[in-house]
Formats: sequence, structure tokens, C-alpha cells
Amino acid sequence: MGIVVIDFGGQYAHLIANRIRRLHVYAEIRSPLVDVRELAEADGIILSGGPASVYDENAPAFNEEILHTGKPLLGLCYGHQLICQGFGGRVEPGDVSEFGAAYLDVQKREELFDGLAERELVWMSHRDSVAQLPDGFSVYGATEDCPVAAMGDPVRRIYGLQFHPEVTHSEHGMQMLDNFLTLCGAARDWTMDQYIEQVKERVQKQTAGRKVFLLVSGGVDSSVAFLLLNQALGEDRVLGLHIDNGFMRKGETALVERLMKDSGFHNLQVVDASADFLRALEGVAEPEEKRRLIGEEFLLVRDRALARLELDPEEWLLGQGTLYTDTIESGGTDNAAVIKTHHNRVGVIEELLAEGKVVEPLDQLYKDEARELGEKLGLPHHLVWRHPFPGPGLGVRALCSDGDERISSLETAESEAQEMAEKCGLDLDILPLRSVGVQGDSRTYAHPAVVSGDSDWATLEDLSTELTNSFTSINRVIYLLGPQERPTQGIKKGYLTRDRLDLLREADVIVMDALERHDLLREVTQMPTVLVPLSSDGVQESIVLRPISTDDFMTARFSQLPQAFIDEVRDGLLSLEGIEAVFYDITHKPPGTVEWE
Ligand code: XMP
Repeated sequence: MGIVVIDFGGQYAHLIANRIRRLHVYAEIRSPLVDVRELAEADGIILSGGPASVYDENAPAFNEEILHTGKPLLGLCYGHQLICQGFGGRVEPGDVSEFGAAYLDVQKREELFDGLAERELVWMSHRDSVAQLPDGFSVYGATEDCPVAAMGDPVRRIYGLQFHPEVTHSEHGMQMLDNFLTLCGAARDWTMDQYIEQVKERVQKQTAGRKVFLLVSGGVDSSVAFLLLNQALGEDRVLGLHIDNGFMRKGETALVERLMKDSGFHNLQVVDASADFLRALEGVAEPEEKRRLIGEEFLLVRDRALARLELDPEEWLLGQGTLYTDTIESGGTDNAAVIKTHHNRVGVIEELLAEGKVVEPLDQLYKDEARELGEKLGLPHHLVWRHPFPGPGLGVRALCSDGDERISSLETAESEAQEMAEKCGLDLDILPLRSVGVQGDSRTYAHPAVVSGDSDWATLEDLSTELTNSFTSINRVIYLLGPQERPTQGIKKGYLTRDRLDLLREADVIVMDALERHDLLREVTQMPTVLVPLSSDGVQESIVLRPISTDDFMTARFSQLPQAFIDEVRDGLLSLEGIEAVFYDITHKPPGTVEWE
């Protein structure tokens, strides 16, 4: 069956299963309170790291029987200490913590350390350490500050490592994990095809004849989950609902519908609720208010659709495309800290989860694995690798305004900011409208400065940083791409109306198509196209391009894209009826967020 990883809440715990699967062995994550009967089929068990000390009163409660199943056992960091204590050794609180890179002197270059060098670079992160080995164990390796950095009992096949072989900074960590898999005799036959079979079986067991209802947004995760559920349970036992909120990309709803039909499934219902959403958002410009209303309307539309379908709650379970990382970020595993609450983990869903009424076929997977699965299930490559798209969609990309928001204090800032820009040979204005940004841990709602003139990326980047650092009234800087002469523009009133959204949809297609044609979809993590009610005639508007690259979305750099791409996109956008100017957002995050809101 593969390896079971017991999750003690360490920040790298979630990586272990991913690494094991990359070595072609199936791995699953379980709670420290798991019933050992559920481990009966496992080839081996890995105890993860965790933030607690084995002495803490609040150390995670844990089923000690896990230590005594007779199966090969590998403890990492906290898991290493737990093994030490559990088998009669002694763990001592350390005076000094050891974090980061360390050299491991390998004392036994066999079993777990087969094929390794005498000295290995490993990644440490601990305060407590093993002071006395349990009976039957010997030292396998030590670092300068940690005499028992690795220990093992070859007879019982139980090992402990104080460091983290699962992180890439541990140079040959994968070799160590690979050796453990060999010691377990685990079959190297795990492939995505097999996962598909296993997860289908799991879903069939969990649903026990009942049916599954799921919302299909058109994003990768919900599309993959829908296809998988259909294959596992058959079309008659699955129902998908796609809500068109009017903030979708051009042709998005039709695309989702067609893809599902092409895959042979006709059980996706589409509700066009765009009129309801637009009515709810009429005359609203303030970003948080827009978000609140979009969220509320979504729940109303969903509930109406559910009422219309008259699904018997005893017969229907709720399906979700939740990934493992969504659960982790919401503190959804027993011992992880809450980072942000994901929409798949709100109160009412938690209740259903507790009752076993939520089916989540992707809940053990990472984004890269969900994408691989999507390709296997036959979703087209470009859908599988699409950029993430926010729930409120173009609703946060069509900037709204009640009109000119110029305040007198802006005039002073503007003349000082103009001096800074002049030193770079550029003209500058502060725009009398606001967009959302982030500084420190707080949200800002301030003005973009627009610069124009000939320049280069390095100058623009420095100027943008200098401006946003110097003036609290400026949280973003944008650069004029065209037309060459900047029209004299003011702010017109603009809300979430169908006309504006249609115009933005056209602009967005031009940008996304060009990204694909120029093969920039991987280099650029996300590229919002933003419609801004900046106008010289009270009719036409402006577009801001917001390409960013980031690993985690917490911070991001604005992308510096090739001139050929920029020229093509600018010309395409300027040829749209209703667009008179195109700008490029040259703000990192912080101080600018990715979305303008
Ligand atoms: P910001 O604008 O905060 O965005 O820098 C960071 C990332 O989060 C995405 N985002 C959302 N995703 N629902 C989502 O599913 C939302 O309400 C939402 N708001 C922002 C944004 O697109 C970027 O990737």
C-alpha cells in the first residue's frame, strides 16, 4: 500500500508524501491519532517533524501504538525525538538551537545511509536533541552541535534523523528516503494512473451508493475533481453546477461546458446569474464592498440553485476540489498553524466534513500533481496550466470609481514626486483614483502615480520603489506604453456594468493570447489586465497590464517582459474601440497587491 506519513504539524510535513510519491511509492498522510488498524497495509511509517517539544504539555496527542506495529519506522526531527522517548531513550531540551545547513558526519554508510559520502550537507531545525539512545539503537551520524543527528536499530528497522531529508537543502535527502523505501520493501510502482484507481476506490467506498454535488468554477482543481468523480461514480451519481457570475473571462463558461461534454459527461448544469450579480453591484465602487456583495450573491445564487434541484441531503454529499495545501493553510490538519482560511474550509463545510459528507478526491495532492492528474484525465494542456484566476474574477479587475478623488494634500506630494521623476527624464502625475496595496501587514488604499517618457526597466524599477517609499499617498506606479503622447485624462464614473466587463473581456483575451503565443505562460505567474476609468473624453477608458512572477503570491515582482510582446499587446489593445491608453504596472508586491480591486 506504500508509506503512511504521520503529520505532527511541521512546516515540511506536507512535503514528505510528495517526495515519496516522486520516488514512485504511494504515500498518504494521517493524523497522530490514527487507529493502527488503518496502517495494516502500510509498508512503512514516517513520523513527521512538528513545532512542539516532546516535553510540552501541549505536545500533539498521539497513538503510541503507531510505534509498535512492527513495521519499518522513520522519525524526522520531532519524529526522531518521539522515537527516542518512546523506546526508552532520553531527549533533552537544548540550550542552543540549530537551524539551517549543517554537515553530517556519516558513521554508518549502510542501510539508511547506503551510497552516501562521509560528510553530507543536511538541513537542521531543532532545539531539543537526543541525549541518550534507546536500547538496541546506535548512532548513524552526528553534526558538530548534535551528537545523535541520526540513529537506528537495524533489527527492528527503526530510524531517526534529527534533520530534514525531505527539503532540497539536504543535498542527498532523497537518497536517504529512497534507502528507507528499499528497507521497507515498498513496491516502486506508484504512478498517477494508479492513484486514479486508488482514489476512485476510496470515493466509491466513502459515498457508499450516495451521490455527489459539486460546484465547478472552471479552474483546474474543480474541473479535475468533477471528471474524476464522474469516472469513479458514473454520470448518474454526480451533478456539477457552474455559476456564471458575469465576471468570467471571455468564453469561459462555454469552454467549461464544452470541455465536460467533450469528456463525455452531460451532468454539468450552468446557471447564468450574471444579471443578478450586476444588479447587486450597481453603483458600488469601494473594493471591499464589491467583494462582500459578490460573495453574498454567490451564496444566494447557489442556495437558489440547490433549492430548485431539490437534492435530498441524505442522498447527496458535497464534492470539492480541495488540495492538500488548501487544508494545510487553513490549519485543517490536526497540528498545523492557521495561515489563511480557504473558502473550502469555512464553518458549514467543516460541519459536513465532520459528518463525513464531503468528498475531496484531490485532498492528498499538490498543485503539480493535480495538474498531472488533469492531463491524465484528458483536460487540454492549456486549461491544466492556466494561471490562477480569483473567485470574484474580473469583478476585481474592473476598477470602479465615483469620479475624481483628488484631495488637496495630493498637490504637494505631486510636485515633489514630479521632481524625482524629472531626474530620470520622466513626466509624472498622481492619478485621482485609488487601488488596493499592501504595506507591512496592512492593506492600503491609495493613488497610483503615472510616469511617461523614454526609459529602461532598471530606471523604472528604482523610481517606482523610491516613489512608493517616499509618499504614503502613492502605493503603485504605472508606466505609459501608448499612445506616444499621453492624452490629458481625468477620472470618469465607472462601476461593474456589462459594457465595461465586456470591454475588459476583449482586452484580457488579447493579453492572454499573446502570452501564450510568446511562450510566456510559465515565466509570468499571473497577468491581470485591469480596466481603469481614466479617460480624456468621458467615454473611452484605459488598460493597465499587471504581469507578475512569484512562487507564493505573498510577495511578487513585476515582470519585465520582452519589447516585442509589449508592442504587440499595446497595439492590439489600442485598436479596441473604447480603449485610449495602455499602461504597465511597475510596482512590486509589496507595496502593490497583484490585483487592483
Ligand atoms: P493579491 O491581490 O492579494 O492577490 O496580491 C494574491 C493572489 O490571490 C489571488 N486572489 C484570489 N483568489 N479568490 C481567489 O481564489 C479571491 O477572492 C482572490 N483575491 C485575490 C490573486 O489573483 C493572486 O493570485
